[in-house]
Amino acid sequence: MELFGVMGYPISHSLSPDMHNAAFRHEKRDAVYVPLKVKHDELEIALAGARALGFRGLNVTVPYKEEVIPYLDILSAEASLIKAVNTISIKDGKLTGHNTDCLGFVEALTTHLPDSLGGKRCLIIGAGGASRAVVMGLAIHKAALTIANRTLSKAEALAKDVAQVTTFAPQVCLLDTPEFAQIVKHSEIIINTTSLGMTPQQDLSPVPVDLLSPHHFVVDIIYNPLKTKLISDAEAKGCQTQSGLDMLINQGAQAWNIWFGESGPRDVMKAAVLAALIRQPDEAI
Ligand code: ATR
Repeated sequence: MELFGVMGYPISHSLSPDMHNAAFRHEKRDAVYVPLKVKHDELEIALAGARALGFRGLNVTVPYKEEVIPYLDILSAEASLIKAVNTISIKDGKLTGHNTDCLGFVEALTTHLPDSLGGKRCLIIGAGGASRAVVMGLAIHKAALTIANRTLSKAEALAKDVAQVTTFAPQVCLLDTPEFAQIVKHSEIIINTTSLGMTPQQDLSPVPVDLLSPHHFVVDIIYNPLKTKLISDAEAKGCQTQSGLDMLINQGAQAWNIWFGESGPRDVMKAAVLAALIRQPDEAI
């Protein structure tokens, strides 16, 4: 049997095991995918353990998408550009890091918002590993970017990395400041890439509701709960919205390309995630 898993902390919110196991069953693969809760000081040993146990592939989630890089043997071109890894393949004892979040995000956004992203004023909230994939994806499409983060230095570092691969540098700002409020008002697309609002912090949102208005297209990359406080507030204010569901499915289907050389069955994966969300207690949805 082939072994796969997702490493993160916390990990109980992750629906990747439901998504991939349903796809394995559907495709009749002799494989299993497990949640792997890894403590902060045990990431390196956990990766060595996965290698020793014969795991064939892994996903990496909050908060390890950047932290994992020093422990890998090889980085794909897109992962080294983004400087974040969400998918690992293990072959001949070597761990190779990839990033399928970037393509997964852009595919999801352009499905919901068919207009060109060129010049669109986008506010990305967060500057962690998930944000890096989102920001690079938008930068490649020449969107006009502002990165807002709780820790300004991380937003600055990300903006600098983007400036090295595109012709412009994103603006940066601190969360929860008058400048942030102004930028929210003037943005066309707002994307939350932080864990604010994710189970079990469902009551939190990075954007005060009174700053939202109908001209905003609001994206939350969180998929658990499907309707975060940010998405509910945005709907109540008449905004168009997009949850993290499609990005989850897209990045998972793309991970199959890396592990098996063929895309995962998206319809099966989506149905499994929706069924798992419905099975959860009401307050988690
Ligand atoms: P991931 O790899 O999934 O992106 P991460 O690298 O830990 O996870 O990044 C988490 C992001 O959420 C960061 O931008 C973090 O802000 P800091 O850079 O200041 O740490 C943001 N974040 C997490 N909890 C937050 C909170 N309570 N308030 C504001 N931002 C938060």
